[in-house]
Amino acid sequence: MPQDHAQHVDPGSGRSDVANGAPLSLDPADWDEFRRLAHRALDETIDRLATVRDRPVWQPAPREVRSRFRESLPQAPRPLDAVLDEFAAFIEPYGNGNGHPLFMGWVHGAGTPVGMVAEMLAAGLNANCGGRNHIAIDVERQIAAWAAQMFGFPVNASGIFVTGTSAANLVGLLVARSAALGDGVRQLGLRAGAGQLSAYASAQAHGCIVRAAEIAGIGSRHLRLVPVEASGAMRVDLLERSIAEDRAGGLRPFLVVGTAGTVNTGAFDDLSALAELCRRESLWFHVDGAFGALCALAPSLRPLLAGIERAHSVAFDFHKWAHVPYDAGFVLVRDPDLHRRTFSHAEAYLHRAPGGLAAGEVWPCDLGPDLSRGFRALKTWFTFRVFGAERIGAAIEHNCRVARYLADRLGDSDLFEVAAPVALNIVCFGLRISGDGALNKTIVLDLHERGAAAPSTTVLDGRTVIRAAIVNHRTTAADMDAFLAALQVSALRVLGRGARPEAVRQAG
Ligand SMILES: Cc1ncc(COP(=O)(O)O)c(C=O)c1O
Repeated sequence: MPQDHAQHVDPGSGRSDVANGAPLSLDPADWDEFRRLAHRALDETIDRLATVRDRPVWQPAPREVRSRFRESLPQAPRPLDAVLDEFAAFIEPYGNGNGHPLFMGWVHGAGTPVGMVAEMLAAGLNANCGGRNHIAIDVERQIAAWAAQMFGFPVNASGIFVTGTSAANLVGLLVARSAALGDGVRQLGLRAGAGQLSAYASAQAHGCIVRAAEIAGIGSRHLRLVPVEASGAMRVDLLERSIAEDRAGGLRPFLVVGTAGTVNTGAFDDLSALAELCRRESLWFHVDGAFGALCALAPSLRPLLAGIERAHSVAFDFHKWAHVPYDAGFVLVRDPDLHRRTFSHAEAYLHRAPGGLAAGEVWPCDLGPDLSRGFRALKTWFTFRVFGAERIGAAIEHNCRVARYLADRLGDSDLFEVAAPVALNIVCFGLRISGDGALNKTIVLDLHERGAAAPSTTVLDGRTVIRAAIVNHRTTAADMDAFLAALQVSALRVLGRGARPEAVRQAG
């Protein structure tokens, strides 16, 4: 239990006032002591990262711990070592768990120790990457150029970091809106444009596409969710029919969103076919490649992305399959001028100078909704500098082999069956006997509560299934053996409990 050190604080330390001219600085009064404590924090973080495998995947924060985070605004100072103690006792043990090799829920990157160091360096620089003439802007531009190289885009394509692919998809959709209606839509609003816009994505597209259509004023009713093949890929014939019907009905089709790696099963739309259709129909072609786009780094998986080089925009995350620490979403746009015209404003206080700190023609704030922005590019730059693209691609390929291994072992199981084709790194499966999947939900809950493993669930064909997304660079085939053993234990516990349906209902 950390002790309360507040009473040892000298309220006058490091302080002064306007009368004697010294600043009321937030710097440490004793830099040597600060250095010692900062080293302590770094050492403890490295220890935690090095031993992540030995700890539970996840554990719930006890009530007493949660209640600490309802205390009121601290008024008095507190020594850094006391706050580090609080972090170690009350925050660190109750994290998301996504560093652990048996975390397989949703689609979470695992982070790396290198990324952690880069985050610390970025915080030390404390750069504001909204714009201006400093090197962080060049680093971000270099990441855009690397992304262009990865996807076969022109070298002058423009791109920026955003929080995640949800925001990146929204940016792509807004640029597509400018392409359809002209950037005058920003001043005049949607009703000034001729006709109601309509957009298209697969029924397996991520929910953020629906939200983006809502936020951009298109209206989710005008986003057509086109049925998919058994593989999970969008039915291009039905897409074409839907576009034709909408045109005949007086709508104005403007955008097709292809998915490279669906969140449910990791399926890929046929991006070449979508690119060709968009060319024929004069539609904007946007790719949501949240995690799948980074298959561009994996030689054996790269063919899945054929056609991405013809997209108008691509949204993806470095924080997923490149393991850059959260958050590091990115959007790349083929037409840099249109990208800028969709967002830039000419406020006096953001005036560009011919030289000095306010120099530079296009600033990141001209390419998205944010003005103040952190230095997300640095942790991404470090990740690629240190590991190289080939090693990141190899880790992606390894995840897919591990997923295949899990699917094969599940195929031999008496208890479980695989519920969807394994296109990539996501294995959906469930109990052979489970009707609507309620028991699958309860098994996942049991795995989480025991801290044994953290898959998530999804619904396929109306049935809840267990979903293991193998994203972590630490995860091995031996971890899958441990996962199968943990699954067996949870399944037997749940099936034992299954005699009491109320327990299952409660858990579900
Ligand atoms: C296909 C797809 N698109 C979009 C997203 C949203 O990405 P983010 O959580 O970074 O906003 C995800 C998240 O898993 C995804 O899998």
